Formats: sequence, structure tokens, C-alpha cells
Amino acid sequence: MLLKPFTFLAALLFTLGSLSISFAFPNFQAPNGDLLRRQGIEDSTVSQAGHGVDAPPPPGPPSFTGLKLVNDRDHPWKPLRKGDVRGPCPGLNTLASHGYLPRDGVATPTQIVNAIQEGLNMENTAAILATYLGHLLNGNQVTDLLSIGGKTPKTGPPPPAPAHAGGLNVHGTFEGDAGLTRADEFFGDNHSFNQTLFDKLVDFSNRYGGGFYNYTVAGELRYSRIQDSIATNPQFSFKNVRYITAYGETVFPVNFFVDGRVTTDRKLSMEDAASFFRDMRFPPDFHRSDHPVSNQGVDQVIAAHSWLPGGNADGKVNNYVVDPTSADFEHRCRLYDRVVEGVVGLYPSPTGILKRNLIKNLQYWYTAVNVSLGGCTQLFPFGQL
Ligand code: HEM
Ligand SMILES: *[C@@H]1O[C@H](CO)[C@@H](O)[C@H](O)[C@H]1NC(C)=O
Ligand SMILES: *[C@@H]1O[C@H](CO)[C@@H](O)[C@H](O)[C@H]1NC(C)=O
Ligand SMILES: *[C@@H]1O[C@H](CO)[C@@H](O)[C@H](O)[C@H]1NC(C)=O
Ligand SMILES: *[C@@H]1O[C@H](CO)[C@@H](O)[C@H](O)[C@H]1NC(C)=O
Repeated sequence: MLLKPFTFLAALLFTLGSLSISFAFPNFQAPNGDLLRRQGIEDSTVSQAGHGVDAPPPPGPPSFTGLKLVNDRDHPWKPLRKGDVRGPCPGLNTLASHGYLPRDGVATPTQIVNAIQEGLNMENTAAILATYLGHLLNGNQVTDLLSIGGKTPKTGPPPPAPAHAGGLNVHGTFEGDAGLTRADEFFGDNHSFNQTLFDKLVDFSNRYGGGFYNYTVAGELRYSRIQDSIATNPQFSFKNVRYITAYGETVFPVNFFVDGRVTTDRKLSMEDAASFFRDMRFPPDFHRSDHPVSNQGVDQVIAAHSWLPGGNADGKVNNYVVDPTSADFEHRCRLYDRVVEGVVGLYPSPTGILKRNLIKNLQYWYTAVNVSLGGCTQLFPFGQL
């Protein structure tokens, strides 16, 4: 397996901080010389123009998965520089602002899996599931780079349309409606922190969580945000990928943003919520979870208010129509089917490196999907290697 040496090498690079990234990534140029220093990863590096990268297998779990100080001296928070990209995910934004991810907000799937494991202790299969979902829909399959926000030339030349390699901000792929602190795309900005919505999160935490965000608050806020969108967004869409992820992301603040030294009655203070969601910053002295986590608690959120996938039909508000063909919690493999269909839609007839990497990345993603969703029939739209 190539995984072990790579993980080892990456760890070594983080520790020594003196080797050039081009040593670890032979296909990458390191225009700025040393990129990995004691202050985290400075910037991404675009692959050499025209030369694709052979999509490597995702990293395995780190050797140590326990409690750890992650807001440490090697990963100081730094304010955004001109051109740094951030997006709808407070987890990835925070990891980039602390240098667990390249601070410019452009990263390889390998860097993302390593960062969410190292910095927030996400469980390995869940980390691969989320990362490759984002990368397959929004990343550049030739250069192996994904923007955690908007489209940027830093991910390299985009493959031919309809592919876009547009980054995680692209609406209707991973990013979707009824976010907790991000407005629906219909209102103009789908990815930035929205103070009005954060105020609502605070209000719900006061009403249902005694001033803290916990799973009870998550259940109420999830339902209420759906109702908001039904009443105000004529283009509200809430199905397939979005339906599933919308529930998962409501428990992430409890599972990942609460200090790992708190092991019972886990609940997020509003100060710490603002730190992650708004400031993209670990609270002082922040320790990651003391064990690998993913979407624990999601059943409680789903059970609080059962709701079926669908959307507002005919461009009218208050016109929610259920879509019985959507992925839901009874038909979880439809999530896989819909994403594969989406990828085929983006890449109707790939060739060369693009085709090879699509086959590889779909394979890596399937492996995690099959474990997480408990057995799905694998599809091979681009054939096999
Ligand atoms: C430890 C890992 C992660 C944590 C703690 C995390 C946390 C969150 C949270 C709390 C939200 C909800 C934001 C809101 O609605 O206000 C969110 C949204 C999002 N995350 Fe992450 N995330 C993680 C990993 C990832 C990964 C690996 C990807 C993809 C590569 C990703 C992509 C997104 C996207 C696209 C959204 C926006 C969905 C929407 O439209 O609301 N996240 N994440
Ligand atoms: C914030 O969200 C609210 C509610 O969805 C929306 O009406 C408003 O336009 C958003 N504000 C900004 C600045 O995007
Ligand atoms: C998301 O929001 C930005 C504006 O903030 C906009 O440029 C983009 O078009 C929006 N939607 C899509 C389709 O990505
Ligand atoms: C959330 O906090 C409220 C208020 O303290 C409490 O009644 C509720 O049981 C908590 N929910 C969970 C899941 O801990
Ligand atoms: C998918 O998962 C099922 C059940 O968990 C298992 O029997 C099957 O071998 C897996 N398929 C592949 C191709 O890994």
C-alpha cells in the first residue's frame, strides 16, 4: 500500500517543516520554495500546466486518533490575505485559516482528508465520503485540486464544459438550500456567513438549548430553516445530496466544534459557535474530539421532525412537493446513484488522464460509500482500469 509511506512522509513534513512540497508531490511545482513551515501549510500549488496528476488513493486513518490540542503553535490562526478562498463549510474554512489546509483554500483530496482527521478527528470513512463527494462534483479531476469556496485559476485549467471545477460554492451540487448560517442561493450569496441566520441559531439555542447549541436545537433549527425556505424561496430544492447532507451538517457543530475534553452533555457555546462559523477560528486552547467522529446524533435530528425530500414546484413559494424518487434515509444508495449520474452529466465523454482519474476517484468514493451506506451496487459509467 502507498498509503502508509505517504502518511508518514506528510507527518514528517509537518514536523520538520523544512522540506519543499515538491519533494512530497513530484508532480507539483513549489513556486514559493518551502511551503510547509511551522505555521501550517501556506499555499496550494497548481500542477504543471498540461500535466495531470495521477489521483492517489485516499489516506488511511492517522496512527493517533485521541484527544489533542489542535489550536497549537504550529497552526496559528491567520487573517485572510487577498485572494484566499473560503466557502460555505465552517469546518474547512477553519482548517484553512489555521494552516491544516493550504491557507489559500485550494487543496488536494489527500490534504483535505488528512486535515479533517488531524484537526477535527473526523472518522476515516466519513472523511473520504465527504471529501470525494465534494471533489467529484466541484473539483478539478486532472490537477487533483479543489477550491473550498469559489472558482479560482489556482485549481488549474478547468476540463471542457459542462464540467466546471467551480469549487464548493457551486449551488445544487454539495452546497444547497436551508443552510444553518448560509442563505439560499436565491437570495444572492449562498456561501458567506450570514449574521441574520446566525442570530436565528442563537435564538434557537436560547429557546431549546439553554443558551447552547445541542442536538435538540439542531432538530428544531433544521426543521425551521426548511420552513423558512418553503415560505420565501420560490426555487427551494431539498432532495438527494442536499437532503442527506442537510441533516448531517446540523450535528457537526456538536460533534466537532465542542472541545474534546468535554465528554458528557456536549453543547456548543455561542461564543465558540461564532468563532468557527464566523471567524473561521478554533477557540483558544481548543482540543479536537477524543475519538474519531462523524454524524452521531443525526437520528435524533431526523426524528425530531420527520420531513420528506422535495422542493417548491413551479417557481412558487409555499408549494412544497415531495419527490418520491429522491434519495432519503430509506433509500440511501440513491445518494450514490444520483452523484454518479451527476458526474456523468459533467463529463459526458472523458478521455486520457481525466477519464483515468474519474475512474479512480469514483472507485475511492465508492469504497467509503459502500461502508457508510451499508452496501450499494457499484456503477462503472467510465469503465474500469
Ligand atoms: C470535520 C469535517 C467537517 C466539518 C466539521 C464540517 C462542518 C460543516 C457544517 C457545520 C456545515 C453547515 C454550515 C451551515 O449550514 O451554516 C457544513 C457545510 C458544508 N460543508 Fe462541511 N464539514 C466538514 C467537512 C466537509 C468536507 C470534507 C466537505 C467537502 C469537501 C465539506 C463541504 C461542505 C459544504 C459544501 C457545505 C455547505 C452545505 C450547505 O449548503 O449548507 N465539508 N460543513
Ligand atoms: C441573510 O439571510 C437572510 C435570510 O435568508 C436573507 O434574507 C438575507 O438576504 C441574507 N443576507 C445577506 C447579506 O446575504
Ligand atoms: C453563489 O453565490 C455567489 C455570489 O455570492 C454567486 O456568484 C454564485 O453565482 C452563486 N451561485 C452559484 C450558482 O454558484
Ligand atoms: C439541550 O439543552 C436543553 C436545555 O438545557 C435540554 O433540555 C435538552 O435535553 C438538551 N438536549 C440534549 C440532546 O442534550
Ligand atoms: C459492499 O458492501 C456489501 C455489504 O456491506 C458487501 O457485501 C460487498 O462486498 C461490498 N462491495 C464491494 C464491491 O466492496
